[in-house]
Amino acid sequence: MVRYEVTIFHRILDILLLVCAWSIVLGIFLTASQHFNIQNNSTQVRVLLRSPQDKADNRSGVNKVSQDARIVRNSKLPNCLIIGFSKCGTLALRGFLSLHTDIVSPQREIRYFNVFYKRGLQWYRNQMPPSSEGQITLEKTPSYIMSAEALKRIYQFNSSIRLIIIVRDPITRLQSLHAHMFQGMPKSSKVPSFREWCGGRARTARVVRVADYAHPVGNVFKLFPRHQVLVLSEESLEQNPLRVMREAERFLGLKSSISKTDFVYNEPKGFYCFNTSSRKYPKIVKSVVLNEKTGCLGSGKGRKHPDIDNSLLKELVDIIRPYNERLFSMIGKRFKWKNFEAM
Ligand SMILES: *[C@@H]1O[C@H](CO)[C@@H](O)[C@H](O)[C@H]1NC(C)=O
Ligand SMILES: *[C@@H]1O[C@H](CO)[C@@H](O)[C@H](O)[C@H]1NC(C)=O
Ligand SMILES: *[C@@H]1O[C@H](CO)[C@@H](O)[C@H](O)[C@H]1NC(C)=O
Ligand SMILES: *[C@@H]1O[C@H](CO)[C@@H](O)[C@H](O)[C@H]1NC(C)=O
Repeated sequence: MVRYEVTIFHRILDILLLVCAWSIVLGIFLTASQHFNIQNNSTQVRVLLRSPQDKADNRSGVNKVSQDARIVRNSKLPNCLIIGFSKCGTLALRGFLSLHTDIVSPQREIRYFNVFYKRGLQWYRNQMPPSSEGQITLEKTPSYIMSAEALKRIYQFNSSIRLIIIVRDPITRLQSLHAHMFQGMPKSSKVPSFREWCGGRARTARVVRVADYAHPVGNVFKLFPRHQVLVLSEESLEQNPLRVMREAERFLGLKSSISKTDFVYNEPKGFYCFNTSSRKYPKIVKSVVLNEKTGCLGSGKGRKHPDIDNSLLKELVDIIRPYNERLFSMIGKRFKWKNFEAM
């Protein structure tokens, strides 16, 4: 009986020893893998610091801060935003502005102030391309202007930030939106006519929402002083990009660096594209998605617009004209919009 109990005692001791041994092995393994992780991370840091820009900075003696601070310093939060309007040539505007040597801009719409605000400023900064001291970081998200809350957040972010807004003939914008919504639908599917889509008549919530620039622009002016806001028109940008670029350069306090030879008029498309032989072209290719052969923006631009019958057009003009007038008196300039000139 006694002997039997001793055997059981030994068994328990054996098991305990085994458990101890395994814990030690597991501990060593975990420590080692952590160590491996740290090494991995520092490798990443080293790789990041080896970009050409860093080498250039190192040569010029800028590299005097810690490694972590250096990575952050490379991109800056925006000091200019294109906040609206969708379907009004914001992409072309950002593309043409990116020709300027003192402007950098991320390729995507970041949607920080209206969609990804919870991700925080550090995340927002990380979306920005690297820039050097005097350069302006420009971000474009055309939906900012439609959110009063986003505008307030922008004001809290930096009340002296500069804002650019681009508008176009509101009836053309309606047509462009219709073309955008039903692009690439198979012939068999039922695409509503422009009239049906508008709601059968001119004064519908959809028409007013798309055509009334004055209301959202008014929200901007409630917060920001006029001299911080530049309002441009898609029509001028299309007809004379250089003149619009001069206006934007003055607004941003930049010396002019965009020139006539940076654009080429593309006859078949009927609008200006980037000059693929310009020495600024490599910078543009990094900043905007375009057809690298022609230097023109993607197939989305210049889509065929739906026809509008004359009676609907006349109704739309009558309803929308007062909104236009409100906008013009608010911004202190007028735009020539062909749908409103004829009648
Ligand atoms: C290593 O990097 C990963 C992701 O990049 C991060 O989640 C982790 O916390 C880092 N580990 C250390 C020890 O810094
Ligand atoms: C930075 O420059 C110093 C000499 O000024 C050099 O020793 C060092 O290797 C350089 N670092 C990098 C990352 O190029
Ligand atoms: C706010 O924007 C202005 C104009 O771009 C800039 O001069 C200023 O440094 C910015 N302020 C902050 C806190 O980023
Ligand atoms: C395009 O750029 C090249 C190189 O700068 C220039 O020689 C040419 O005249 C430009 N084309 C146009 C149409 O401006």
